[in-house]
Amino acid sequence: MSRPTSRLATALLCCTRAAAIDSAHSFYRSKFGWYAADNHSHALSRPLLAATDKALYTPELDALFNDLDAIVEQHYVERHGGGRAEKVRLGAAAAATTLRAGSTARYRHQTDFYYRLGTGPWVQHVCEIGFNVGHSTAIWLASNPLLHVHSFDLFETGYKPKAVALLQRRFPGRLHTFQGDSLTVVPQTALPACDVVHIDGRHSYWNVVMDFLHMRAKSRRDAFFIFDDQCDPTNCTSTSLVPAQPTLGTCDLVTARLLEPVVSFYHSNRQFALFRRPLKEGRLEEEGRLPCAPLCRITFGSPRLRERWLGLGEGLRQERLQHKLRPQGCQFGLTEGTGKRE
Ligand SMILES: *[C@@H]1O[C@H](CO)[C@@H](O)[C@H](O)[C@H]1NC(C)=O
Ligand SMILES: *[C@@H]1O[C@H](CO)[C@@H](O)[C@H](O)[C@H]1NC(C)=O
Repeated sequence: MSRPTSRLATALLCCTRAAAIDSAHSFYRSKFGWYAADNHSHALSRPLLAATDKALYTPELDALFNDLDAIVEQHYVERHGGGRAEKVRLGAAAAATTLRAGSTARYRHQTDFYYRLGTGPWVQHVCEIGFNVGHSTAIWLASNPLLHVHSFDLFETGYKPKAVALLQRRFPGRLHTFQGDSLTVVPQTALPACDVVHIDGRHSYWNVVMDFLHMRAKSRRDAFFIFDDQCDPTNCTSTSLVPAQPTLGTCDLVTARLLEPVVSFYHSNRQFALFRRPLKEGRLEEEGRLPCAPLCRITFGSPRLRERWLGLGEGLRQERLQHKLRPQGCQFGLTEGTGKRE
């Protein structure tokens, strides 16, 4: 690393990538008009600023993220190989940037939090729903040499198996994958007791609740459950509806006393939250239905989101599912939509 030639090579690599990402940004801005330039590539390659940074300074992880980006780009190029070179190059950079931007590798605060959670000496088995490009999987694996990841995903897109192969090469024997719909595959899979469960699969209310219930049965009593794409149910300040259903799911699980919040990150447009099972836990009804606890409703910080949620009929649609997850005959006494967590 210290030889001038390899420093130069690294510098060149950095700037070619940065340029590619910058052009992807402008490409997206002009095409869709929504891609705000938040500079994740810069955040991830920031220099070590102080000695106390060292614990969180993970150049090997940043390099891994870049390799995962490269897999997405390569996959794009393979699929669009016949096209005009410049257009393909931009499209490939845009694909990698978009997937990175929607991942746990977008913001340092989330990457750091996952990384530090993974370093716990008691964390041997992380069970994860939702692999996608493998950013969070990379974080877990890089954080702790004793840690195994058990990852559930449809693995339906070409870049996913390539990303799995890369991580399995880098971390031999520590990444175990299970392909298919988590709703059926998780209950059928024998797993060592999970110490940490990461739920980042299909972002529907139903999936979030069911994925949790299925993983709960596979986990230690004192396991941590981390959910991506959350917001504060009493004042959801997200910029999109993406966290709405996952938040409704965790909010209902908290109200039902199946989870209690440990720590939540409800700022920036990358929000996530950590939970555990309460000491005094709610009882699951027959067939894994939730107790007859009050139903949560989400209160949105922005009128635009509230209108979209109501306009799309999501509030009502989700409420029907909320009922479906409870035994028939539950008396709810619906309260006016505060969505409070008790
Ligand atoms: C990202 O950060 C670098 C370094 O500060 C800067 O040169 C570049 O213009 C930034 N890109 C965007 C899209 O903001
Ligand atoms: C919701 O959160 C935003 C951002 O933190 C804050 O400005 C606003 O006052 C909050 N609204 C309520 C009703 O608490």
